[in-house]
Amino acid sequence: MIIKDAKFVISNTDLDKCPTPDKAEYAFIGRSNVGKSSLINMLTNNGKLAKTSGRPGKTQLINHFLINDEWYLVDLPGYGFAKASKESRFKWTQFIQDYLMNRENLLNTFVLLDARLPPQKIDLEFMNWCGHNGISFSMVFTKIDKLSSTALQKNLAVYRKEMLKVWEELPPVFTSSSTSKFGREKILNYIDQINV
Ligand code: GTP
Ligand code: MG
Repeated sequence: MIIKDAKFVISNTDLDKCPTPDKAEYAFIGRSNVGKSSLINMLTNNGKLAKTSGRPGKTQLINHFLINDEWYLVDLPGYGFAKASKESRFKWTQFIQDYLMNRENLLNTFVLLDARLPPQKIDLEFMNWCGHNGISFSMVFTKIDKLSSTALQKNLAVYRKEMLKVWEELPPVFTSSSTSKFGREKILNYIDQINV
């Protein structure tokens, strides 16, 4: 797939204020700092589209980006950010849950997981929650430039084993690096495949 155009549309915390749900939509979620915004920039070949930061908690809102005037990529706030106040964490949970459960044009949610870490409780819980609520998702292991391919394969095997304790089969699994652009074609082709 060729990305000819990518533009920011709107940021908000309210499902009702999201763009009219008349185009296919794909969202990116995962723990704070896992690389959601960076992956959107990598996929669109635009380093400045989504705001990124070395410090967790950068993305705070639901951000819609319109691609080729045809479909949306959505950057979401991270979960598991301990510094957020209790109240803002609660609000966050509410509006993200509302978005994920009720956004009618949301075709797939990419759940980003740091490829360097063993399975994290919060990620497993989140994916189970998606399963219970019928939210279709794929897994993307990020930052693979930061570990050897042997370590990556080992971590993926551990993850697979952990997931298969609960799931009968795994959802689609991708690996990515926003610095080397590894994974770009596969993720875009996957979106292309769902788009039709
Ligand atoms: P929040 O919005 O805070 O939830 O974070 P996020 O998930 O959007 O992460 P973001 O894209 O802002 O990236 C966090 C940090 O990780 C930044 O310093 C990025 O440069 C770095 N980063 C993201 N992806 C990669 C990657 O694939 N490889 C490497 N080496 N660094 C990455
Ligand atoms: Mg972000």
